[in-house]
Amino acid sequence: MPTPSPARMHDIEIVSNEPIAQGIFALTIRAPKLASALRPGQFVNIAVPGNAMSLLRIPLSFAYADAAAGTVDIWYAVVGEGTDRLSRMKPGETSDLLGPGGKGWTIPAGCERALLVAGGIGVPPVLCLARELARGGIPFDVCMGAAAAAALVGEDDFRAAGADEVRVCTDDGSTGYHGFCTDPVTELLREKSYGYVATCGPEPMMAKVAAAASDAGVSCEASLERMMSCGFGACSTCAVETVNGMQGACMCGPVFDAKEVVW
Ligand SMILES: Cc1cc2nc3c(=O)[nH]c(=O)nc-3n(C[C@H](O)[C@H](O)[C@H](O)COP(=O)(O)OP(=O)(O)OC[C@H]3O[C@@H](n4cnc5c(N)ncnc54)[C@H](O)[C@@H]3O)c2cc1C
Ligand code: FES
Repeated sequence: MPTPSPARMHDIEIVSNEPIAQGIFALTIRAPKLASALRPGQFVNIAVPGNAMSLLRIPLSFAYADAAAGTVDIWYAVVGEGTDRLSRMKPGETSDLLGPGGKGWTIPAGCERALLVAGGIGVPPVLCLARELARGGIPFDVCMGAAAAAALVGEDDFRAAGADEVRVCTDDGSTGYHGFCTDPVTELLREKSYGYVATCGPEPMMAKVAAAASDAGVSCEASLERMMSCGFGACSTCAVETVNGMQGACMCGPVFDAKEVVW
C-alpha cells in the first residue's frame, strides 16, 4: 500500500544548467527545504515554463542534494519538447516543483558489499546511492553502460564517491568493455560476495540484472522510471505490474524490490 505522498510544492531558482555529455545536461537548482528532505532514489516533478499547452511536469531523479548549500543537482537527457525547454532555462530563472516524490532505495541491514548497475541516464539515482553507501562505510563496485563514450556520465563521480571498482561498458565499444553491462555484472556476482544489487537504466537491462542477482541469491532493487503524469498517485499512468498486483511507480516506487516486479 502506498503511504501518503511526501511531496510538497517548492519554488526553485536555476543556479546552473550546462551540457556535460552528448545530449545530457547537469542542472543545479536552489531549493533549500527540498535539499534537506530528499532521500536517495526519490524524484522531483518539475514545471518547465514556456509552453502554455504543456500541463505536465517532468519527473527527474537527482544526483546530489546539498542540504548545507540548499541546492539539488539533476542530470537529464534532452529527449523531447519538455526537456528541450528545460535545457534552455538560464541561471536566475525560476519555476516550481513537487517533491520529494516516491520511495527511494533501502540498503539491506548488514549489507557488507553492494553492486551498483547504471545504464544511460539511469546514473543519477545510482550515484546518489553510491554516496549514501560511502557515508555508511559500505564498500561497493559499479557497472555502468552507455551507448557511446560521448554519452557516458558519472564515471569520475563514482570513483570520487569511493567505488572499489568501476567497470565501464559501451554499446559501440568506443570506451571500456564492448557490449552491455550485464556481462560484467554476471562476472562480478561470480567473483565477489554481495549483499545488495541496485540498478537503474533501460528496463531490459534491469530485468537481466534482476535475474542475475536472483540466480546469485542476492537481494536486488530497481528504479523504474515509468512515464508519469501527476507524480502523486492520482492518475494510474505509472502502473507497474508486480506479484502483488498493479502498483503506481510514483508512490510505491520508483524503487521496487526486483523480485516483486513482473519483468
Ligand atoms: C521517477 C523518474 C525519474 C526520472 N529521472 C530522470 C533523470 O534523472 N534524468 C533523465 O534524463 N530522465 C529521467 N526521467 C525520464 C524523464 O522524465 C523523461 O525523459 C521526460 O519526462 C521526457 O520529457 P519530454 O517532454 O522531454 O519528452 P516527451 O516529448 O514527453 O517524450 C520524448 C520521448 O521520451 C519518451 N519518454 C518520456 N518519458 C519517459 C520515461 N519516463 N521513460 C522512458 N521514456 C520516456 C517518450 O515516450 C518519447 O519517446 C525520469 C522519469 C521518472 C518517471
Ligand atoms: S503518475 Fe499519476 S498515479 Fe503515478
